[in-house]
Amino acid sequence: MSAYGSFPGSRPRRLRTTPAMRRMVAETRLDPSDLILPAFVREGVSEPVAISAMPGVVQHSRDTLRKAAVEAVEAGVAGIMLFGVPEDEKKDALGTAGTEPDGILQVAIRDVKAEVGDDLVIMSDLCLDEYTDHGHCGVLDADGRVDNDATLERYAEMAQVQADAGVHVVGPSGMMDGQVGVIRDALDETGHEDVSILAYTAKYSSAFYGPFREAVASSLQGDRKSYQQDPANARESLRELALDLEEGADMVMVKPAGPYLDILYRVAQAVDVPVAAYQISGEYAMIEAAAANGWVERDRAIMETLLGIKRAGADTILTYWATEVAGWLRRER
Ligand code: PBG
Repeated sequence: MSAYGSFPGSRPRRLRTTPAMRRMVAETRLDPSDLILPAFVREGVSEPVAISAMPGVVQHSRDTLRKAAVEAVEAGVAGIMLFGVPEDEKKDALGTAGTEPDGILQVAIRDVKAEVGDDLVIMSDLCLDEYTDHGHCGVLDADGRVDNDATLERYAEMAQVQADAGVHVVGPSGMMDGQVGVIRDALDETGHEDVSILAYTAKYSSAFYGPFREAVASSLQGDRKSYQQDPANARESLRELALDLEEGADMVMVKPAGPYLDILYRVAQAVDVPVAAYQISGEYAMIEAAAANGWVERDRAIMETLLGIKRAGADTILTYWATEVAGWLRRER
Protein backbone atom coordinates (compact mmCIF):
# COMPACT_ATOMS: atom_id res chain seq x y z
CA MET A 1 0.00 0.00 0.00
CA SER A 2 1.53 3.34 -0.99
CA ALA A 3 0.96 6.64 0.74
CA TYR A 4 -1.47 7.38 -2.09
CA GLY A 5 -3.77 4.51 -1.20
CA SER A 6 -5.60 3.39 -4.28
CA PHE A 7 -3.87 5.94 -6.55
CA PRO A 8 -0.29 4.63 -6.55
CA GLY A 9 0.44 6.17 -9.95
CA SER A 10 -0.23 9.76 -8.88
CA ARG A 11 3.11 11.02 -7.73
CA PRO A 12 3.71 14.49 -9.26
CA ARG A 13 7.04 14.66 -7.42
CA ARG A 14 8.53 12.15 -9.90
CA LEU A 15 8.78 14.99 -12.40
CA ARG A 16 10.60 17.24 -9.92
CA THR A 17 13.47 14.90 -9.08
CA THR A 18 16.40 16.48 -10.94
CA PRO A 19 17.20 19.86 -12.46
CA ALA A 20 17.17 18.27 -15.93
CA MET A 21 13.73 16.75 -15.28
CA ARG A 22 12.35 20.06 -14.02
CA ARG A 23 13.78 21.84 -17.00
CA MET A 24 12.18 19.33 -19.37
CA VAL A 25 8.70 19.76 -17.95
CA ALA A 26 8.80 23.53 -17.35
CA GLU A 27 5.66 25.07 -18.84
CA THR A 28 6.94 28.63 -18.94
CA ARG A 29 10.33 29.78 -20.18
CA LEU A 30 11.82 33.21 -20.25
CA ASP A 31 13.93 34.34 -23.15
CA PRO A 32 15.91 37.58 -23.56
CA SER A 33 13.58 38.42 -26.44
CA ASP A 34 10.68 38.59 -23.96
CA LEU A 35 12.18 41.64 -22.27
CA ILE A 36 12.06 45.39 -22.85
CA LEU A 37 14.30 47.81 -20.96
CA PRO A 38 12.75 51.09 -19.79
CA ALA A 39 15.44 53.81 -19.72
CA PHE A 40 15.58 57.43 -18.56
CA VAL A 41 17.68 60.07 -20.27
CA ARG A 42 18.25 63.44 -18.66
CA GLU A 43 18.97 66.60 -20.52
CA GLY A 44 22.12 68.55 -19.79
CA VAL A 45 24.08 65.99 -17.74
CA SER A 46 27.43 64.55 -18.73
CA GLU A 47 27.38 61.78 -16.11
CA PRO A 48 24.52 59.46 -15.19
CA VAL A 49 22.54 60.52 -12.13
CA ALA A 50 21.56 57.89 -9.56
CA ILE A 51 17.88 57.45 -8.66
CA SER A 52 17.89 56.82 -4.92
CA ALA A 53 14.54 55.01 -4.88
CA MET A 54 15.69 52.68 -7.66
CA PRO A 55 19.16 51.44 -6.71
CA GLY A 56 20.95 50.31 -9.86
CA VAL A 57 18.84 52.47 -12.21
CA VAL A 58 20.04 55.88 -13.39
CA GLN A 59 19.00 58.91 -15.35
CA HIS A 60 21.31 58.45 -18.28
CA SER A 61 23.40 61.05 -20.03
CA ARG A 62 23.10 60.90 -23.81
CA ASP A 63 26.37 58.98 -23.86
CA THR A 64 25.54 56.36 -21.27
CA LEU A 65 22.11 55.84 -22.85
CA ARG A 66 23.82 54.82 -26.07
CA LYS A 67 25.98 52.39 -24.10
CA ALA A 68 22.97 50.96 -22.32
CA ALA A 69 21.30 50.40 -25.70
CA VAL A 70 24.35 48.53 -27.00
CA GLU A 71 24.47 46.37 -23.87
CA ALA A 72 20.80 45.56 -24.27
CA VAL A 73 21.39 44.45 -27.86
CA GLU A 74 24.35 42.31 -26.80
CA ALA A 75 22.25 40.64 -24.12
CA GLY A 76 19.50 39.87 -26.62
CA VAL A 77 16.89 42.21 -25.12
CA ALA A 78 13.97 42.88 -27.48
CA GLY A 79 13.46 46.58 -27.05
CA ILE A 80 14.05 49.79 -25.14
CA MET A 81 11.35 52.17 -23.86
CA LEU A 82 12.72 55.71 -23.61
CA PHE A 83 11.66 58.40 -21.14
CA GLY A 84 12.98 61.95 -21.44
CA VAL A 85 13.79 64.14 -18.45
CA PRO A 86 14.03 67.78 -19.59
CA GLU A 87 15.90 70.53 -17.76
CA ASP A 88 13.67 71.88 -14.98
CA GLU A 89 13.31 75.36 -16.46
CA LYS A 90 11.97 73.87 -19.72
CA LYS A 91 8.85 72.52 -18.05
CA ASP A 92 5.69 74.52 -18.67
CA ALA A 93 1.92 74.17 -18.54
CA LEU A 94 1.66 72.70 -22.03
CA GLY A 95 4.69 70.42 -21.84
CA THR A 96 6.26 72.22 -24.79
CA ALA A 97 9.58 70.36 -24.48
CA GLY A 98 7.72 67.18 -25.36
CA THR A 99 6.97 68.36 -28.86
CA GLU A 100 10.11 70.22 -29.79
CA PRO A 101 12.10 68.41 -32.45
CA ASP A 102 15.19 68.91 -30.30
CA GLY A 103 13.50 68.02 -27.03
CA ILE A 104 15.47 65.49 -24.98
CA LEU A 105 13.33 62.49 -25.88
CA GLN A 106 13.54 63.17 -29.61
CA VAL A 107 17.31 63.65 -29.32
CA ALA A 108 17.57 60.37 -27.40
CA ILE A 109 15.54 58.49 -30.00
CA ARG A 110 17.89 59.74 -32.72
CA ASP A 111 20.96 58.84 -30.62
CA VAL A 112 19.78 55.31 -29.96
CA LYS A 113 18.71 54.84 -33.57
CA ALA A 114 22.13 55.99 -34.76
CA GLU A 115 23.82 53.60 -32.33
CA VAL A 116 21.83 50.38 -32.73
CA GLY A 117 19.62 50.98 -35.78
CA ASP A 118 16.97 48.31 -36.06
CA ASP A 119 18.74 45.82 -33.78
CA LEU A 120 16.55 46.90 -30.90
CA VAL A 121 12.90 47.89 -31.07
CA ILE A 122 13.04 51.55 -30.08
CA MET A 123 9.98 52.74 -28.16
CA SER A 124 9.08 56.06 -26.59
CA ASP A 125 6.79 57.13 -23.80
CA LEU A 126 4.11 59.30 -25.34
CA CYS A 127 2.86 61.34 -22.41
CA LEU A 128 3.14 64.89 -21.13
CA ASP A 129 3.92 64.39 -17.43
CA GLU A 130 7.69 64.46 -17.93
CA TYR A 131 7.36 67.91 -19.54
CA THR A 132 4.59 69.73 -17.66
CA ASP A 133 5.36 71.99 -14.69
CA HIS A 134 2.20 70.71 -12.92
CA GLY A 135 3.26 67.10 -13.55
CA HIS A 136 -0.03 65.89 -15.04
CA CYS A 137 -0.21 63.65 -18.10
CA GLY A 138 -2.19 66.26 -20.00
CA VAL A 139 -2.96 69.97 -20.24
CA LEU A 140 -5.31 71.56 -17.72
CA ASP A 141 -8.56 73.42 -18.25
CA ALA A 142 -9.52 76.69 -16.52
CA ASP A 143 -10.59 74.75 -13.42
CA GLY A 144 -7.30 72.89 -13.19
CA ARG A 145 -8.70 69.58 -14.45
CA VAL A 146 -6.94 67.50 -17.06
CA ASP A 147 -8.62 68.42 -20.35
CA ASN A 148 -9.03 65.22 -22.36
CA ASP A 149 -9.50 66.61 -25.85
CA ALA A 150 -7.01 69.46 -25.58
CA THR A 151 -4.51 66.82 -24.44
CA LEU A 152 -5.24 64.67 -27.49
CA GLU A 153 -4.08 67.50 -29.73
CA ARG A 154 -0.78 67.60 -27.87
CA TYR A 155 -0.43 63.80 -28.14
CA ALA A 156 -0.92 63.99 -31.91
CA GLU A 157 1.98 66.45 -32.09
CA MET A 158 4.11 64.25 -29.84
CA ALA A 159 3.45 61.23 -32.04
CA GLN A 160 4.67 63.11 -35.07
CA VAL A 161 7.93 64.42 -33.55
CA GLN A 162 8.77 61.05 -31.99
CA ALA A 163 8.11 59.29 -35.30
CA ASP A 164 10.12 61.92 -37.17
CA ALA A 165 13.01 61.14 -34.82
CA GLY A 166 12.87 57.50 -35.92
CA VAL A 167 11.06 55.62 -33.18
CA HIS A 168 9.62 52.20 -34.08
CA VAL A 169 6.85 52.12 -31.48
CA VAL A 170 5.09 54.85 -29.51
CA GLY A 171 3.70 54.06 -26.07
CA PRO A 172 0.83 56.35 -25.13
CA SER A 173 0.66 56.14 -21.33
CA GLY A 174 -1.62 59.03 -20.41
CA MET A 175 -4.97 57.19 -20.28
CA MET A 176 -6.86 59.90 -22.17
CA ASP A 177 -9.99 58.65 -23.91
CA GLY A 178 -9.47 58.36 -27.64
CA GLN A 179 -5.67 58.67 -27.50
CA VAL A 180 -4.91 55.63 -29.64
CA GLY A 181 -7.19 56.73 -32.49
CA VAL A 182 -5.87 60.27 -32.55
CA ILE A 183 -2.27 59.07 -32.50
CA ARG A 184 -2.93 56.53 -35.28
CA ASP A 185 -4.40 59.28 -37.45
CA ALA A 186 -1.52 61.65 -36.71
CA LEU A 187 1.04 58.98 -37.62
CA ASP A 188 -0.75 58.01 -40.83
CA GLU A 189 -1.25 61.60 -41.94
CA THR A 190 2.45 62.36 -41.53
CA GLY A 191 3.74 59.37 -43.47
CA HIS A 192 4.46 57.17 -40.45
CA GLU A 193 2.15 54.28 -41.28
CA ASP A 194 4.84 51.81 -40.15
CA VAL A 195 5.20 53.19 -36.64
CA SER A 196 3.26 50.97 -34.25
CA ILE A 197 1.32 51.76 -31.12
CA LEU A 198 1.85 49.93 -27.86
CA ALA A 199 -1.23 51.11 -25.99
CA TYR A 200 -1.13 51.41 -22.23
CA THR A 201 -4.58 49.85 -22.18
CA ALA A 202 -5.17 48.94 -18.56
CA LYS A 203 -3.12 51.38 -16.56
CA TYR A 204 -4.04 51.61 -12.91
CA SER A 205 -3.65 54.50 -10.54
CA SER A 206 -0.96 52.87 -8.43
CA ALA A 207 1.11 53.69 -5.36
CA PHE A 208 3.89 51.67 -6.97
CA TYR A 209 4.72 54.46 -9.44
CA GLY A 210 6.34 56.28 -6.49
CA PRO A 211 9.99 55.82 -7.47
CA PHE A 212 9.23 56.85 -11.07
CA ARG A 213 8.40 60.34 -9.79
CA GLU A 214 12.02 60.71 -8.74
CA ALA A 215 13.24 59.07 -11.94
CA VAL A 216 11.60 61.76 -14.10
CA ALA A 217 11.91 64.56 -11.52
CA SER A 218 8.13 64.91 -11.57
CA SER A 219 6.53 67.94 -10.01
CA LEU A 220 3.12 66.30 -9.60
CA GLN A 221 0.97 67.43 -6.69
CA GLY A 222 -2.08 65.29 -6.11
CA ASP A 223 -2.83 62.14 -8.07
CA ARG A 224 -3.97 60.76 -11.42
CA LYS A 225 -7.19 59.16 -10.24
CA SER A 226 -9.37 61.06 -12.72
CA TYR A 227 -7.65 59.41 -15.68
CA GLN A 228 -5.90 56.22 -14.53
CA GLN A 229 -8.01 53.21 -13.55
CA ASP A 230 -9.30 52.40 -10.09
CA PRO A 231 -7.54 49.33 -8.64
CA ALA A 232 -10.96 48.02 -7.64
CA ASN A 233 -12.05 47.50 -11.24
CA ALA A 234 -11.39 44.59 -13.58
CA ARG A 235 -14.27 44.65 -16.11
CA GLU A 236 -13.38 48.23 -16.95
CA SER A 237 -10.08 46.97 -18.39
CA LEU A 238 -11.95 44.95 -20.98
CA ARG A 239 -13.82 48.08 -22.01
CA GLU A 240 -10.55 49.99 -22.36
CA LEU A 241 -9.21 47.03 -24.31
CA ALA A 242 -12.11 46.99 -26.80
CA LEU A 243 -11.70 50.73 -27.40
CA ASP A 244 -7.94 50.56 -27.89
CA LEU A 245 -8.22 47.72 -30.39
CA GLU A 246 -10.98 49.50 -32.28
CA GLU A 247 -8.83 52.64 -32.42
CA GLY A 248 -5.91 50.70 -33.88
CA ALA A 249 -3.63 49.54 -31.06
CA ASP A 250 -1.02 47.10 -32.39
CA MET A 251 -0.08 45.84 -28.95
CA VAL A 252 -1.70 46.33 -25.56
CA MET A 253 -0.26 46.68 -22.09
CA VAL A 254 -1.27 46.01 -18.52
CA LYS A 255 0.43 48.11 -15.86
CA PRO A 256 1.56 47.60 -13.12
CA ALA A 257 2.23 43.89 -13.57
CA GLY A 258 2.56 42.07 -10.24
CA PRO A 259 -0.57 43.33 -8.44
CA TYR A 260 -2.64 42.99 -11.66
CA LEU A 261 -1.92 39.45 -12.87
CA ASP A 262 -5.66 38.72 -12.98
CA ILE A 263 -6.14 41.63 -15.39
CA LEU A 264 -3.19 40.45 -17.45
CA TYR A 265 -4.66 36.97 -17.62
CA ARG A 266 -8.06 38.24 -18.73
CA VAL A 267 -6.61 40.56 -21.35
CA ALA A 268 -4.32 37.84 -22.72
CA GLN A 269 -7.27 35.45 -23.00
CA ALA A 270 -9.33 38.05 -24.82
CA VAL A 271 -7.03 39.28 -27.60
CA ASP A 272 -5.07 38.17 -30.61
CA VAL A 273 -2.51 40.99 -30.47
CA PRO A 274 0.72 40.84 -28.44
CA VAL A 275 0.25 41.63 -24.76
CA ALA A 276 2.83 43.52 -22.72
CA ALA A 277 3.11 43.92 -18.96
CA TYR A 278 5.11 46.63 -17.21
CA GLN A 279 6.89 45.67 -14.01
CA ILE A 280 7.07 49.19 -12.68
CA SER A 281 9.43 51.23 -10.54
CA GLY A 282 7.84 50.30 -7.21
CA GLU A 283 7.88 46.60 -8.03
CA TYR A 284 11.58 46.98 -8.77
CA ALA A 285 12.27 49.03 -5.66
CA MET A 286 10.53 46.62 -3.29
CA ILE A 287 12.62 43.66 -4.32
CA GLU A 288 15.86 45.65 -4.32
CA ALA A 289 15.08 46.98 -0.85
CA ALA A 290 14.11 43.61 0.59
CA ALA A 291 17.17 41.98 -0.97
CA ALA A 292 19.46 44.71 0.37
CA ASN A 293 18.17 43.85 3.84
CA GLY A 294 18.79 40.17 3.27
CA TRP A 295 15.07 39.45 3.46
CA VAL A 296 14.66 37.78 0.07
CA GLU A 297 17.10 36.18 -2.36
CA ARG A 298 17.38 38.88 -4.99
CA ASP A 299 17.95 36.91 -8.18
CA ARG A 300 15.43 34.19 -7.39
CA ALA A 301 12.82 36.77 -6.44
CA ILE A 302 13.37 38.65 -9.70
CA MET A 303 13.05 35.50 -11.79
CA GLU A 304 9.95 34.39 -9.92
CA THR A 305 8.16 37.68 -10.56
CA LEU A 306 9.07 37.62 -14.26
CA LEU A 307 7.99 34.00 -14.65
CA GLY A 308 4.70 34.81 -12.93
CA ILE A 309 4.08 37.69 -15.32
CA LYS A 310 4.81 35.53 -18.35
CA ARG A 311 2.76 32.62 -16.96
CA ALA A 312 -0.21 34.97 -16.56
CA GLY A 313 -0.07 35.69 -20.29
CA ALA A 314 2.45 38.43 -21.08
CA ASP A 315 4.19 38.08 -24.43
CA THR A 316 6.61 40.82 -23.54
CA ILE A 317 7.67 42.34 -20.22
CA LEU A 318 9.02 45.79 -19.50
CA THR A 319 11.41 45.49 -16.59
CA TYR A 320 14.29 47.57 -15.26
CA TRP A 321 16.20 44.29 -14.87
CA ALA A 322 15.90 43.46 -18.59
CA THR A 323 19.58 43.56 -19.54
CA GLU A 324 20.76 41.84 -16.37
CA VAL A 325 18.20 39.04 -16.60
CA ALA A 326 18.83 38.58 -20.33
CA GLY A 327 22.48 38.05 -19.42
CA TRP A 328 21.56 35.34 -16.91
CA LEU A 329 19.30 33.61 -19.45
CA ARG A 330 22.03 33.64 -22.10
CA ARG A 331 24.51 32.03 -19.71
CA GLU A 332 22.03 29.32 -18.76
CA ARG A 333 21.70 28.09 -22.32
C1 PBG B 1 3.55 58.28 -17.55
C2 PBG B 1 4.21 57.07 -17.05
C3 PBG B 1 4.40 56.67 -15.73
C4 PBG B 1 5.10 55.48 -15.75
C5 PBG B 1 5.33 55.16 -17.09
N1 PBG B 1 4.76 56.15 -17.88
C6 PBG B 1 4.04 57.37 -14.46
C7 PBG B 1 2.63 57.50 -14.06
O1 PBG B 1 1.71 57.12 -14.78
O2 PBG B 1 2.40 58.05 -12.97
C8 PBG B 1 5.53 54.69 -14.56
C9 PBG B 1 6.61 53.68 -14.79
C10 PBG B 1 7.17 53.14 -13.52
O3 PBG B 1 6.70 53.46 -12.40
O4 PBG B 1 8.12 52.36 -13.60
N2 PBG B 1 4.42 59.02 -18.38
